[in-house]
Amino acid sequence: MIKILISTLLISVVSSLASTVLKAAPATPAMISGNADKGEALYYNHGCYACHGYNGIGKHNLANDVSGIMMSEAVYLIFLRARSELNPPLPTQRMPHYPESSLSDQEALDIYAYIRTFKDTPPEAESNATMRAIINSAQSQAPQ
Ligand code: HEC
Repeated sequence: MIKILISTLLISVVSSLASTVLKAAPATPAMISGNADKGEALYYNHGCYACHGYNGIGKHNLANDVSGIMMSEAVYLIFLRARSELNPPLPTQRMPHYPESSLSDQEALDIYAYIRTFKDTPPEAESNATMRAIINSAQSQAPQ
C-alpha cells in the first residue's frame, strides 16, 4: 500500500515537475524520431483523439508545443508507461494505460511525431461574419 502511494506521488511529482520545468526551459526543438504519417493512423486507432480531439486542443492541450510532457520523447514515454509498466496498480480512470504490449515504443513515438505537428491557430474573431455581427452589436450598445 505504502509502495503504491509512494510511486503514485513520484509519478505525479515527475509529471508536474516535467510540466513546470520544461515549460520554463528555453524553446529548443526536441528531437522527433518517429513517423508522423504512421502516427496519425495510430492516434485514431488507439483512441487518443477521443479525449484529445482531432488537433490536441482541449483541457490538456497537446498543440503548439505547450505541454511540458510533450517537450521530449523520453518524458512522453515515461508518462505513457507510468501507469502500466512502472506502476500497474496505480488507480486512475482519467487516461487509459498504454503498456508496451499494446503500443510499442516505436508506435508511441510515431504518435508523438504526429502530435508535434498540431497547431492551434484559431481565426481572428473579426474574420468571422457571426462574430463580427456580435462585436458590432455589442459596440453599438456600449455606453458612450
Ligand atoms: C479516456 C481519455 C483519454 C485517452 C483515450 C487518451 N488520453 Fe491522454 N490524457 C487524458 C487525461 C485526462 C490527461 C491528463 C493527465 C492524466 O490523467 O494523467 C491526459 C494527458 C495526456 C498527455 C499529457 C498532457 C499534459 O498535460 O501536458 C499526453 C502527452 C497524452 N495524454 C497523450 C495521449 C496519447 C498519445 C493517447 C493515445 C495513445 C492518449 N493520450 C489517450 C485523457 C486521455
